[in-house]
Amino acid sequence: MKDANFLKAHNARSLWHPMTAPSDSLKNPPAIITGAEGTRIRDIDGHEVVDGVGGLWNVNLGYSCQPVKDVIAAQLDALPYYSIFRGTSNDKVIELAEELRAFFEPDGLTRAFYTSGGSDSVETALRLARQYHKIKGDPGRTKFLSLKKGYHGTHMGGASVNGNANFRTAYEPLLPGCFHIPAPYTYRNPFNESDPAKLAQLCLQALEDEIAFQGAATIAAFIMEPILGAGGVIPPHPTFMPGVEAICRKHGILLIADEVITAFGRTGAWTGSRLWGVKPDFACTAKAITNGYFPFGAVMIAEGVAEVFESDATGKAAIGHGYTYSGHPVGAAAALACLAETKRLNVSVNAAARGTQLHQGLLKLQAQHEAIGDVRGGHGLMCAIELVADRATKKPADKAIPAKVQEAAFRAGAMVRVSGPNIILSPPLVVTEADIATILAALDSGFKAL
Ligand SMILES: Cc1ncc(COP(=O)(O)O)c(C=O)c1O
Repeated sequence: MKDANFLKAHNARSLWHPMTAPSDSLKNPPAIITGAEGTRIRDIDGHEVVDGVGGLWNVNLGYSCQPVKDVIAAQLDALPYYSIFRGTSNDKVIELAEELRAFFEPDGLTRAFYTSGGSDSVETALRLARQYHKIKGDPGRTKFLSLKKGYHGTHMGGASVNGNANFRTAYEPLLPGCFHIPAPYTYRNPFNESDPAKLAQLCLQALEDEIAFQGAATIAAFIMEPILGAGGVIPPHPTFMPGVEAICRKHGILLIADEVITAFGRTGAWTGSRLWGVKPDFACTAKAITNGYFPFGAVMIAEGVAEVFESDATGKAAIGHGYTYSGHPVGAAAALACLAETKRLNVSVNAAARGTQLHQGLLKLQAQHEAIGDVRGGHGLMCAIELVADRATKKPADKAIPAKVQEAAFRAGAMVRVSGPNIILSPPLVVTEADIATILAALDSGFKAL
């Protein structure tokens, strides 16, 4: 490794970071992370903190999951790569598909299509949804509906169903035929409705209204996160996703659950769809499927959709889609080991318990710090703090404020993530009670530093 002085001097000089302006990375050099163990990360100066971000919602099992590291190393020796395009397969993808089928069976999802990450999974589900209708002789169903505030990655299809202008405007024009309805976001919504149950009904009415306006026969699918994540952790009322499911069924619209964050236990349930008692037609997964140790993803496909593809006799079900790294044997081996560890450690139970501790702790911080406008969470280890300049008017905090909290929290022992006016918390699912206490104490220091 180059020495610390070299790395600090060259930080952001010859690379552009995702999700920020190149000039910002030069003005505010990123923390250089060089090591990690368990639930902690370490920077180049040896400063060690609890990772309140869990990598990027993906390192659910922490950084020292030896069984996963071992199978990755072994797989590199046995078969570092081979394609699974038509005509070849590998042992690991076959075994993994059976394991995923068993894991997702309660969600009604029984087939896997492999990808290399979340954006790929979203793109895959959108494409297969259109193809499903074409196979069924319904080629007019091409549009997509989604939620404002939703995040679905950065491919052109995903960005088009994305509900946040930050990820859209610079890249427009996006895909035609994508329409958005209000999110069940109680803190801010166009209905001025703060009751979650009433707001859920209003958003469902908006969905019905949009379907009537577009014409149900023109709509391929509705895509949503069971709990909106990157948009600021927005858990809907329990009636919302089942309501969406019922409306989709009524109108022949497929339901895509974007479970890139929520699959594998983060919400305290094994999947977000299961948390709400919903059976989607597709579930997009990635992230925790390999604990962040290898880029990998899988779109899980419902039995009914699978039957349409598998029984087609017209040739329309030929899948003209896939990635070089679809079914990468090292990723599949990593996923098998992650799934085994995820189940062995029963991480969803810890996610629920530690999630409650985190949420309760954040609510206490809200009582002490004026800058905290809203605290969201209550379903496992995904929480957000929305910062405001003024609680009464809900005027968003100045951009520099969350960054200041983050910096002070980092110094005080925890890495937290800033996304717009929000501080987002998504620690590994193996965090201890003491880790959560550290995150809360660090945030307290962060807010005291304002
Ligand atoms: C819900 C959701 N969908 C899709 C994505 C995109 O995943 P990736 O960044 O792996 O492409 C993300 C990433 O955070 C996500 O949270």
